[in-house]
Amino acid sequence: MNLPPKPRVVYAQGRFVPIEEASVPVMDRGFLFGDGIYEVTAVLDGKFVDNEPHLARLERSLSAIGIRNPFSAGQWTALQRNLVDYNALREGIVYIQVTRGVFEREFTCPDEVEPNVVMFTQAKNIRENPSAETGVAVISTPDLRWARRDIKSTSLLAQVLAKQEARAAGVAEAWMVEDGMVTEGASSTAFIINARNEIVTRPLSNAILPGVTRSCVLALADEKGLSLAERPFSIAEAIAAREAFLTSASTFVMPVVSIDGKTIGDGAPGPLTRQLRKMYFAAIDAERHRETAE
Ligand code: PDD
Repeated sequence: MNLPPKPRVVYAQGRFVPIEEASVPVMDRGFLFGDGIYEVTAVLDGKFVDNEPHLARLERSLSAIGIRNPFSAGQWTALQRNLVDYNALREGIVYIQVTRGVFEREFTCPDEVEPNVVMFTQAKNIRENPSAETGVAVISTPDLRWARRDIKSTSLLAQVLAKQEARAAGVAEAWMVEDGMVTEGASSTAFIINARNEIVTRPLSNAILPGVTRSCVLALADEKGLSLAERPFSIAEAIAAREAFLTSASTFVMPVVSIDGKTIGDGAPGPLTRQLRKMYFAAIDAERHRETAE
């Protein structure tokens, strides 16, 4: 007997509901002003990957813009767990959004207004992502964002425009450039590996999001004794690099094989990049106990 397909369940206005029944109030400040924060945690084999640092960054982002965190890390984890279970998600992401709340449209908002939470899951191939085999192409584009890119804000217009530009060029990602140097990808951290086999990525500052995957990959590379350099690099340097890659919660370590139509190395994912991707999966597989301890 064929069972009817399970409806997709999301969390909205304090309840788990089928997505068709969920609604966001017109006066939600996230909707009207982009006045909110979000987080994306990967799910692999039904378990969260590095959820703790994602929830810590959520707390930090909320506090930076003066929104009260409505839940403790334990409460967030329970909500995420329920959502993953309701949707029987094995591999993909769980998305959290917290806005300043629902209030008559005025630029200011009283402190008493309750933050509004929306959560959903998306199925994605992370482990067996075909792009990891071929590598992806990127374009460069000016970084049009605001001055606090370290905050994971839902105001993503500049990133959307950069991604639309990438899409029009038939590539996966846009590396944003400011003052002649790459800041980061529209939704990922940018890395290159130079002729001295140094893994180079921009240091943390207000200019980039402190990527959770970035810090995990840097820690792993350091443990293995690989050589690291946290400094800005230019597009010319990236094109001349031996290898390039990007990192994010939804792609992990993804090889980059061309920039602005110019091939990097021999145009195939580089050996060190492949090794880093493998190392990351191995570390995740070895650290599964993390979730059960929550
Ligand atoms: N993007 N830089 C930017 C601008 C990002 O939006 C992201 C993540 C990253 C990588 O951060 P992390 O490794 O913590 O995922 C860097 C998420 C995945 C998104 O917007 O969907």
